[in-house]
Formats: sequence, structure tokens, C-alpha cells
Amino acid sequence: MLHDPNKVYVFDTTLRDGEQVPGCQLATHEKIEIAKALELLGVDVIEAGFPVSSPGDFNSVIELSKAVNDPIICALTRANKNDIDVAAQALKYAKRPRIHTGIGSSDFHIKHKFNSTREEILARGVEAVKYAKKYVEDVEFYAEDAGRADIEFLARMVEAVIAAGATVVNIPDTNGYCLPDQYGSKIRFLRENVKNIDQAIISVHCHNDLGLATANSIAGLQNGARQVECTINGIGERAGNTSMEEVVMILQTHKTLGLHTGIDATRFFEISHTVRSQMNMPVQPNKAIVGANAFSHSSGIHQDGFLKNRENYEIIRPEDVGFPSAAIVLTARSGRHALKHHLERLGHQVDKEQLATIYTAFLDLADAKKDINDDDLNQLIVNNLAKAGA
Ligand code: KIV
Ligand code: ZN
Repeated sequence: MLHDPNKVYVFDTTLRDGEQVPGCQLATHEKIEIAKALELLGVDVIEAGFPVSSPGDFNSVIELSKAVNDPIICALTRANKNDIDVAAQALKYAKRPRIHTGIGSSDFHIKHKFNSTREEILARGVEAVKYAKKYVEDVEFYAEDAGRADIEFLARMVEAVIAAGATVVNIPDTNGYCLPDQYGSKIRFLRENVKNIDQAIISVHCHNDLGLATANSIAGLQNGARQVECTINGIGERAGNTSMEEVVMILQTHKTLGLHTGIDATRFFEISHTVRSQMNMPVQPNKAIVGANAFSHSSGIHQDGFLKNRENYEIIRPEDVGFPSAAIVLTARSGRHALKHHLERLGHQVDKEQLATIYTAFLDLADAKKDINDDDLNQLIVNNLAKAGA
């Protein structure tokens, strides 16, 4: 059923799993701005919300469906008729609607969340898929807490929902529990043991409780999943979801994986900033790909190597993700090469002797003051030129 077996479909859930985070709630017009940016970025699916959860979310799914043309618009439901009815109504203007329904799959959820049995839960999952199919052709099923589910039962559930018409099966590591090889093996087991697996796309949806969401998603893709569920900046429940920019840049950097997405990565920096300001959710400076320091070089050894050839310390070019430029940050760990680079940038040509004098003064200043800016450098020149014999 896949046209290109090496294409990874990017399912963005910034506006659903991401927006669930306390403080990240958005008004409809803000969601539309992000959805349009996601469309330009080239995502395949936008999970627009959980329509039954509130009138505001219902309305947002309607408005997003009108505003967006290319990506599939997806709405989340639990495995019950009312949720599915409401989602279908909210999706009525979507050009390409998808209902995302599902239920718990681990014994823990089955007992402690649903007070039920495997057989009953499986039947409810199948019934939900069949019911959603009355409204839309494209139905995705999520097996919640699949990361902790018994693999034989999970395989039975996946086979049954595909037989009921699911076009995509989502295998969430809801609690961010798995190790990459465990999660990858789960996906491989499903590919090898579910008879009708080729009739659906396997989707990975990983949470970051142990900091493994990206690694687990990649392991799932290496083992045959072809949709990745992710968010901009990795926002989401608790420690967050898989970060889209990380997955896309891993696939782009490691071409030997043989996988690709339709994402225009040069838009990452801009959309990352839109999401952080709209959602009032700062990004840690050392965050991969989009953090403020992601392309900053600060130690003397790295700066010297970078200035000789940027590829000594740059596996991704900042411009490839829309980042303004790499930065050589001056700190007390910087060397002469970096200092000279910045002095020249400011128009000061210094010889070896002058540089040595200014460098000594620079180290004293950098030890005392964390941020060395252009004014500081100009002042260093003024204070030390005579001493340096210029
Ligand atoms: O983490 C999860 O299991 C989810 C599902 C609702 C898809 O977000
Ligand atoms: Zn989730």
C-alpha cells in the first residue's frame, strides 16, 4: 500500500499531545498559525486535537480543517461511539480527514485503567475502528502503553484492528519505558508475525521519560515503522514527545539508513521559535538542532579546529535547519585563534606580539566576566594597543 517504501510519514502532534502540557494551551487563531507553518514545513499529518475534550478543541479542529489544505487532519478519540461521532463532526471540513482511535494494550492499563480483560479490550478496539470507518476511510488505531504490553497480545490486537479496517497502527511507548533495542524488537516482531501487517502503516509514538524518545523512534523506523509521531521542540506530556527536528535531521545525516521525509528542514529554526513563543515554553539552550547553543563553539580546542575547517566540529550546517549562523563564543576557555577571528571581524588587524598581549588581558577579563561582547573587545584594543607597541 506504500508508494515509496523508504518514505517516513511525519505525523505532528504539537497541537494535541504538545498542547496538553500545562501552560501550553492555545487559542484557535494561534493553532491555525502553527498549523499553517507545519503545512509549509511539509508534515504529512497534523493531529489537530481531541474534539470531545472541550468545545474550544472541537472548534479548533473545525477551523484548522478549513485553513489547511495538504496535510491529513487527524482528530483523537477514545474507543467509544460518542468520541468518534464528535471527532467526525469536527473533521467535516477536512480535505483529508483521519480519526485516531484506540485503547490501552498493556495488562497494567487493562486492569488498573479499564478494570477489564484482554478479550473485552480487544473487542472494544475492533468495534471502535469499525465505527470510525463509517465516517472516514483513514482510521489510525493506537494501542496505548504498547511499550509495556505483552507482545503476543499486542500482535493479536494489531492484526484484529487491521482486519477491521485500520490504515495505520500506532504502537505508543506511552510512558517512555522501553530501551531502543526493546522498542525496535517490538516493531520487528509485529512486522514478522502479524499476517496482514502490509495492509497498514506502523507508526511510532514515543515519550521521553527516560530521554529515549528519539532513539526509540529511530529504532522503530529501522525495524519497519514508516510513520513517526512527534512534536516541534519535543514538547508533550511530562518529559515530552519525540522531537521532530531530531528525527528528521538524524535521517538526513545518516543517509545509510536509506529513509527520508518530505520535511523542509530549513524551516525548523523559524517554527521552533513560533512554537516556543506561542506556547510560552522555552527551549533548553543545549537542545539538539534548535537550542540556542546548538551551533556555538566555546572551547579553545574546538574553536581552533572549527576555524581551520568547520566540519571538524559541525555534522549539520546551521543553515540546513535555518539557524542564522554558527557562533564562536568567547569565554575564558577560548584560545588565541578565536580571539583573533573576532578582532578581525571588528576590523582590528593585530600581529603575533599584539595578539599575545591582548590575549593575556582578555583571559583576565573573561575570568571575571562571563559574557565578552564586542564593546569589551574594542576596549581591550584601546587599553592594550600602546602596551602591545602598536
Ligand atoms: O502516548 C500515547 O499513548 C498517546 C495516545 C493517545 C496516542 O498519546
Ligand atoms: Zn502520547
